[in-house]
Amino acid sequence: MDDGRDFSVNILSIDVGGTHIKALANGQSEVRKVESGPSMTAAMMVEAVKRMTADWSYDVVSIGYPGPVVHGAPVKEPANLAPGWVGFDFAAALGRPVRIINDAAMQALGSDQGGRMLFLGLGTGLGSAMVVNGRVEPLELAHLPYKRKRSYEDVVGLRGLRRIGKKKWRREVSVVIAQLANALEPDYVVIGGGNAKLLAELPSNARLGDNANAFLGGFRLWADSASADQAWTGAERRIVDSPEEIVLAAAAEFYLQAISAVGNAGVFRVALSGGSTPRGLYELLASDPTWRTHIPWYRTHVFWGDERHVPPDHTDSNFRSANDGFLASVPMPQANIHRVHGEMPDAAEAAADYERELGDQFRLAKGELPRFDLIVLGLGEDGHTASLFPGTRALWEKQHLVVSHRVDQVAGDRITLTAPVLNNAACIMFMVSGVHKARALAATLEGPHEPDHWPAQMIKPTRGRLIWLLDRAAAQGLSAPNKG
Ligand code: BGC
Repeated sequence: MDDGRDFSVNILSIDVGGTHIKALANGQSEVRKVESGPSMTAAMMVEAVKRMTADWSYDVVSIGYPGPVVHGAPVKEPANLAPGWVGFDFAAALGRPVRIINDAAMQALGSDQGGRMLFLGLGTGLGSAMVVNGRVEPLELAHLPYKRKRSYEDVVGLRGLRRIGKKKWRREVSVVIAQLANALEPDYVVIGGGNAKLLAELPSNARLGDNANAFLGGFRLWADSASADQAWTGAERRIVDSPEEIVLAAAAEFYLQAISAVGNAGVFRVALSGGSTPRGLYELLASDPTWRTHIPWYRTHVFWGDERHVPPDHTDSNFRSANDGFLASVPMPQANIHRVHGEMPDAAEAAADYERELGDQFRLAKGELPRFDLIVLGLGEDGHTASLFPGTRALWEKQHLVVSHRVDQVAGDRITLTAPVLNNAACIMFMVSGVHKARALAATLEGPHEPDHWPAQMIKPTRGRLIWLLDRAAAQGLSAPNKG
């Protein structure tokens, strides 16, 4: 199946249904399927999928789940399969990062043709979702009362079809389509699901969906992450409930950038930052078996966005903050760790030394900028990022890749990558959590353009992605929290 995009990440898309489990990976031409039914548990599904895709290679997995999914996880057992799905660790069982979405929402995403679309899936159950200008929302209309104490699903799902026969069922389907379209006012209705083919005719605002679109929807779930080299299209903002969720989202991005960089160039070069939220990321990468086993550590080279003028064993050292509990405990060769030598007596000398190291590692010609695959950044309460502090000359440095400078606000010397280097990255990921960051975040993202006061405003990759991973506490001052 071709979505017209180049997925450098291999995605396995699984459509979990009441009668079949189907799977397709991008790059494969044939959908594989196995029967499911009311006795199928999550563990059985995983085993069946592993068996039928044993000869396929894939890096990540999408699952269309036949029940409600909130914040990426099933919250109710499926109506038409055995229990045992809520709380199941799909990533551990499949040994890959997994994104889960409601099955109807996944197919709706793959069927999207713009505007307002109502998707109805006529299968064992009744799937429902809307897509409005590219954003998908699952609906769960199936179990609402329809008539005579029966739900919509009781009548137009498989049970209804068997009970009332094809002729009456067809009539009921047209009534249901008309009713729901009246309530939700879509521009068009797409009818998918295994039983859609039994319909004799369709209302004028409806079209038949293609069940293969379920897989395409699964590919699209990872599509943003898979195309790192896209042109600047504005920042992506993701607002989650807690710092722990920021860390989970960051780990998935880290992994995707790593495998796509290694897939493209054989090496993944990442610049880390200090701070407590990124430290959570490092600890997770080192301890969670999914990331620990699947990140290509031997091909990962680690650098730093900035450093304090202290030796590597100092508690203030950004190197130390990433080394303890992370770099020291993953199978990464020492030679892949490129730290700033903060122990050098002169900070300017440490900056020059680091600039040389970048030149060697990235094989730079004179005047060329390194292109990191990923740079992890934090945001200070005063709006600084890396060690680009408000009102300092370092903000405007254009000749050097690395500079050192005295920062009065912290009464110390700092060594930092310069803005042109940061902005040349393929992907920049800010991790910002806590109410104490709310003011700086709002000023940076929505205030007037004053980079001298709010240096993080300078960060706009010239040809790469910019992701803001935020928690609600940090995002509370934003007026348009969902805007890119
Ligand atoms: C579930 C929905 C699902 C649909 C189709 C219904 O029973 O509640 O979440 O989308 O079946 O599988």
